[in-house]
Amino acid sequence: MNLEALLADRLAAAFAAVAGHPVDPAVRRSPHADYASGAALQLARELNASPRDVAAEVARKADLAGIATAEVSGPGFVNLTVADELLARERPEFPKAATPQTVVIDYSAPNVAKEMQVHHLRSTVIGDAVARLLVRLGHDVRRANHLGDWGTPFGMLVEHLLDGGELSTDDLTGFYQAARARFDTDEDFKRRARLRVVALQSGDEPTLATWRRLVGVSKKHFMAAYARMGVTLTEGDFVGESFYNDDLPRVVDELHAKGLLRVSGGALCAFPEGFTGRDGEPVPLIVRKSDGGFGYAATDLAAVRYRVGTLGADRLLYVVGAPQRTHFQMVWAVARAAGWLPDDVPVEHLAFGSILGTDGKMLKSRSGETVRLSALIDEAVRRAAELTGDGTTAEAVGMGAIKYADLSTDRRTDYVFDPERMLALTGNTGPYLQMAYARIRSILEKAGETRPGPVIIEHPKERALALELLAFEATLATVAETLEFHRLTAYLYALASAFSTFYEACPVLRSAPGVRRSRLSLCERTAETLREGLDLLGIRTPERL
Ligand code: ARG
Repeated sequence: MNLEALLADRLAAAFAAVAGHPVDPAVRRSPHADYASGAALQLARELNASPRDVAAEVARKADLAGIATAEVSGPGFVNLTVADELLARERPEFPKAATPQTVVIDYSAPNVAKEMQVHHLRSTVIGDAVARLLVRLGHDVRRANHLGDWGTPFGMLVEHLLDGGELSTDDLTGFYQAARARFDTDEDFKRRARLRVVALQSGDEPTLATWRRLVGVSKKHFMAAYARMGVTLTEGDFVGESFYNDDLPRVVDELHAKGLLRVSGGALCAFPEGFTGRDGEPVPLIVRKSDGGFGYAATDLAAVRYRVGTLGADRLLYVVGAPQRTHFQMVWAVARAAGWLPDDVPVEHLAFGSILGTDGKMLKSRSGETVRLSALIDEAVRRAAELTGDGTTAEAVGMGAIKYADLSTDRRTDYVFDPERMLALTGNTGPYLQMAYARIRSILEKAGETRPGPVIIEHPKERALALELLAFEATLATVAETLEFHRLTAYLYALASAFSTFYEACPVLRSAPGVRRSRLSLCERTAETLREGLDLLGIRTPERL
């Protein structure tokens, strides 16, 4: 049950009776009571009454029988104390979406022949959590892995592969750098690479075959990385930029027919309303370049058109770094103007900040290059191996630590990649929660024959834990609404802390049979909630650490 929603409902009715119109009761967890409402403070001003009197009337009128007791506190708060029987009896349920939607989530989106980089890490981790959550809520989720598999660099890459360049799934970067180095120093190679772009774009079969090989090897590399990361993306979720090639001329035709294109500097451009540069001049979105080629924006326009028009999306989500904000705002504005993105299909940019090094600067490797994703994971797993026994567990803990560190900070802000902190066994970290889970599992295991039984609430720490457990559903509802996973991690951390306090004060296995079975139930519910919460974040929960 969603306790918070139930309390809010009952108070809302009482507030409406007092005010004569609907009032948001603003019921929240409170340090002074189980829950509290501060809405009387504001309503009193409107009614020209004393806030304490208004709160008292609301408390009197609220139908809370069997749920909670209400009392006035401080300047005019309504404090709520939840009934012990309810805390003992009820369990949180997983909320279900009232109207299931088709939601397209654009995430991960690495680039062919390049290893994933840190911004792909964030996109993959956040996007996958969003996908897991929306699936659980009952939505039809389409994972769109917008693979960067097209564009001018592919002339150079294909040419290098045809020349016998070494390509393996575990060194994409080496291949890319070798091609790049030749392009920068070898005039003949450069000339051939340019011709190769033309061959590729005009559909020359041998060129395409080599390009396909390059894409195939890269996909294999990414699938291996996803498997290691425990990400739900599959091979079938790759929808590369090249997928839209045939649509691009149509995109231009339709925009043109709707009068949305203008020639500017030889290129075909859209000028969506409301985008002006520093000089106040409208900023162009280049749809077709002056050389006749199409770029990133054209592909993204085609993708919107396809996702809504063909996939039937009711909602579009883009998990992409904050620097691409203007790009997407412009693309969507043009797509709305073109009628490809109807007003009732919301689109959101789940933008995220950068990953910084412990020096507070953009993460760079010692030699000054951008850091490879695999290097970060290796580092976390290496440290995790110092904490745990076997390799599988170290992978789960290392990767869990990275995901948790990412998801536990507000996604919009930068976060510091600090292996020492993210792998700490105390504090708000992945390993701390995994450890809490494993610890409870071991208690349950030791209980042997004794089965969990009806919950009896006697000790204040039992009560605090039961109250925390029941807050799960409201937390999930909030996360579903906001897609802010740091709210879920904060909840899980509070739950694990409540468990730890409970366990210190309330012996489980050494208590009398009835109490033991009750406390085992609390243990089981806590373990279940931790497992379910961490699973939403894509974090594994080994039974033993
Ligand atoms: N491949 C791009 C990059 O590495 C991200 C693509 C994001 N998605 C999109 N539809 N443009 O930055």
